[in-house]
Amino acid sequence: MESDARLAPTLYTLENYAADVAAVLDRKLPVDQTVKDIALLKRRLATGGAPIPERYLKRHPIAPYTRNLVHHDPVRGFTVIVLVWGPFQDTAVHDHYDWCVVGVMDGTAHVTNYERLDDASVPGQAELRIASSIIQPVGSVAALLPPRRSNIHKMANAGRKTMVSVHTYGDPGTKAVAFNVKEGTYAEIDLKFHNMEP
Ligand SMILES: [Fe+2]
Repeated sequence: MESDARLAPTLYTLENYAADVAAVLDRKLPVDQTVKDIALLKRRLATGGAPIPERYLKRHPIAPYTRNLVHHDPVRGFTVIVLVWGPFQDTAVHDHYDWCVVGVMDGTAHVTNYERLDDASVPGQAELRIASSIIQPVGSVAALLPPRRSNIHKMANAGRKTMVSVHTYGDPGTKAVAFNVKEGTYAEIDLKFHNMEP
């Protein structure tokens, strides 16, 4: 018996998601609404999306966590990245230059948010303290608005199981600001993509 492709359920893919993000950005709404709309799309991807293709699930042998580039839109400027995290792998304490929407696809994330105690008057210096610590299970979505609204954070795999998250940035996703909490300093860092051939 032949199957009827029209009756097969279609799962929401990363490509569908990227196309929908582009459509949201084309509406040119205020950034708060844009990020909210993209968070809804990300929720659909994280709760009922198609499996992430294997080529985006490879782990780099020595990187602290693996960043696999899925899509960069040169016109609208946004970027979609699959991050693969080994047991307890984590980022530096950091902030982004633009909005960011994160969805947990597999495993459990631990996000620590920081608040700034200084008045930002000395370039390169920042006094931080932990503001909140959140465990995010599969299907969780977090949205960060552009800087100057205090988005300093650190993300980690909360457990031993490999964690997979999809991050969407309003920029190319290649630069961030990393903070040394102990020293009270910060500096710009370059972020690499690790896409590896099959
Ligand atoms: Fe981040």
